[in-house]
Amino acid sequence: MTTTAEIVKNNKDYTLASWTAQSAWNPITMDHAEGVYFWDTEGKRYIDWSSQLVNVNIGHGHPHVIKAIQDHVARISYAYPGIATEARGRLGELLAEVTPGTLTKAFFTNGGTDAIENAIKIARLVTGKQKILTRYRSYHGATFGAATAGGDPRRHGHGSGVPDIVRLPDPYAYRSPVYRGRTQEEGDLIMADMVEEIVQMEDPKLCAAILIEGYSGTSGIIQPTEAYWNRLAEICKKYNMLLIVDEVMSGFGRTGEWFGVDNYPNVQPDIIAVAKGITSGYVPLGATIVSEAVAHYFDDHALSMGLTYSAHPLAMAAGVANIEVYRNENLIENSREMGKVLRRGLMDLAEKHACIGDIRGAGLHQVVELVKNRDTREAMTPWQGPVSEPMAIVAKSLKDDGMNTFVRWNMVFNCPPLCITEAQLKEGLDILDSALTKIDKYYEG
Ligand SMILES: Cc1ncc(COP(=O)(O)O)c(C=O)c1O
Repeated sequence: MTTTAEIVKNNKDYTLASWTAQSAWNPITMDHAEGVYFWDTEGKRYIDWSSQLVNVNIGHGHPHVIKAIQDHVARISYAYPGIATEARGRLGELLAEVTPGTLTKAFFTNGGTDAIENAIKIARLVTGKQKILTRYRSYHGATFGAATAGGDPRRHGHGSGVPDIVRLPDPYAYRSPVYRGRTQEEGDLIMADMVEEIVQMEDPKLCAAILIEGYSGTSGIIQPTEAYWNRLAEICKKYNMLLIVDEVMSGFGRTGEWFGVDNYPNVQPDIIAVAKGITSGYVPLGATIVSEAVAHYFDDHALSMGLTYSAHPLAMAAGVANIEVYRNENLIENSREMGKVLRRGLMDLAEKHACIGDIRGAGLHQVVELVKNRDTREAMTPWQGPVSEPMAIVAKSLKDDGMNTFVRWNMVFNCPPLCITEAQLKEGLDILDSALTKIDKYYEG
């Protein structure tokens, strides 16, 4: 049997890890997984408080999805994208049912990044315009186009990226000076007015689309109110621009609604990009899903984009089976209800630990920001800053106590699988409580 040390050594010797200097990569292993837990090769159990990369929404090892994939691979292992299959048509139909408004047709990709790339291409083809407006604090993927679209620091290190991306300031109520002395909604409306002004400065005749996460993700779950969303939709209409909503992370029940944008019932996206929860990671898959009007453009114009693995049969089967699980097991509703339990638990922790400065999010998609002082809001680690001692202590404590999640700068993400129970949430909150107890002494209030 290969030992844990050998597994790690082989991984480090022969493979490259994302977003890190290789010498700093000290991975845990995974041997098997079930529901909200996974076990390493030493038999240690972890509660998966981040659903891996916020994608294993239905939980690990679901028998219905495993069987669907196994049955399908035995029947069709691959069909090129020009061929029609039953599973592909069925998944398209199911997506049309669960996605908002008139979104009806899906172009299948390998993941979220290429769903965004193709959304941008489609918006440019349909409008005949080039500029795409996106938020600074956002992440849309790792290829040149998608990485440039995301304003998050993960875009750095590759030169100036692709042209015609215009970035917008963030509706960051906790930190932006615009919100001082104002309600969030008042601040949001000012931020939305600034979006309109930027469109005017950039020339509406050149602006193709606004691209925004349906519910902000790894940049810090920094989410504006409905007032902001309604204004964005108005601006798009007024200037003949499309609204592209990135639902890669916020889709498939994460926020307690099918899609993040469903939190804003008056907003109708023209295009959404999905991935992650569409298969809960069982097989890689993404999709760019367009409205009837956008789809109509391609009735007589070539859809000049393609991928060898577009509509891969195993991914189609996994997607269909996932949507059946979401529906049959009421996972969207569970996310909403358990999200309330999670929020109450985080608020209880905030009573006990003054270092919790802000709690944001909805459903099973929540973050806490840790601060040195609640009045000054000074972050335990600043945005893009090097890891501070207290944040390193938090990360180590969570890992030692059997929790897998993201600790990014001063933020701890709370995004477990949607099948989590109240007892399992309490287990995770206790692990977080213990980690925060270790850094109480760093609070300077
Ligand atoms: C909001 C958002 N968009 C796009 C992506 C890119 O998706 P992928 O990593 O599947 O290419 C991610 C990945 O985390 C994401 O969170």
